[in-house]
Amino acid sequence: MSQAKVLVVYFSRTGTTRLLAQAMAKMLAADLEEICDFSNRKGVGGYLRSLADIIMKRPVEIVPAGRDVTAYDLIVIGTPVWAGSVSAPVRSYLVENRARLPQVAFFCSFGGRGADKAMRQMRELVGRLAVAECKVTAAEAHKDANAALAVFAHVLKGHIARSRTLELM
Ligand SMILES: Cc1cc2nc3c(=O)[nH]c(=O)nc-3n(C[C@H](O)[C@H](O)[C@H](O)COP(=O)(O)O)c2cc1C
Repeated sequence: MSQAKVLVVYFSRTGTTRLLAQAMAKMLAADLEEICDFSNRKGVGGYLRSLADIIMKRPVEIVPAGRDVTAYDLIVIGTPVWAGSVSAPVRSYLVENRARLPQVAFFCSFGGRGADKAMRQMRELVGRLAVAECKVTAAEAHKDANAALAVFAHVLKGHIARSRTLELM
């Protein structure tokens, strides 16, 4: 990783995961990409549709990714927790890209329950361990996103620096 290229990818229904993703991209000097799908997820109807997508394990169609993951050394992927699961659009993104993903790191935003299971699902979908993971409650994210992500960003920066050193040897 002489010039480590990092991409932060996220889905956000109501802005919390976006807040974290934007902060992460700044801290890591990374590119940023939002995952979008074709469902209307606004309001109560959107909430219920999102819940149903998870409970019924419905595959959702996402807008084709603009960024080519193979051009990056590390992809940092963020999701909100939905019913103790990774959100449906991020699930689709992981399924579509898992064969091509380089090293990955995961983060999620959540109300207070189910983040461990969502992180485990992300690992299982990608089929490997993440470099690092971070779980941030919506309250922590809105209080101070940078503080909530500080340790995660530190670990990822260290990983990038170590990878760069190994490449130079
Ligand atoms: C359909 C749905 C299900 C949710 N289920 C959970 C849950 O199981 N546990 C939890 O802590 N939060 C849950 N939440 C809350 C979100 O994870 C939380 O508000 C998150 O920060 C929203 O991120 P966003 O603004 O990026 O969409 C759920 C939200 C939605 C829309």
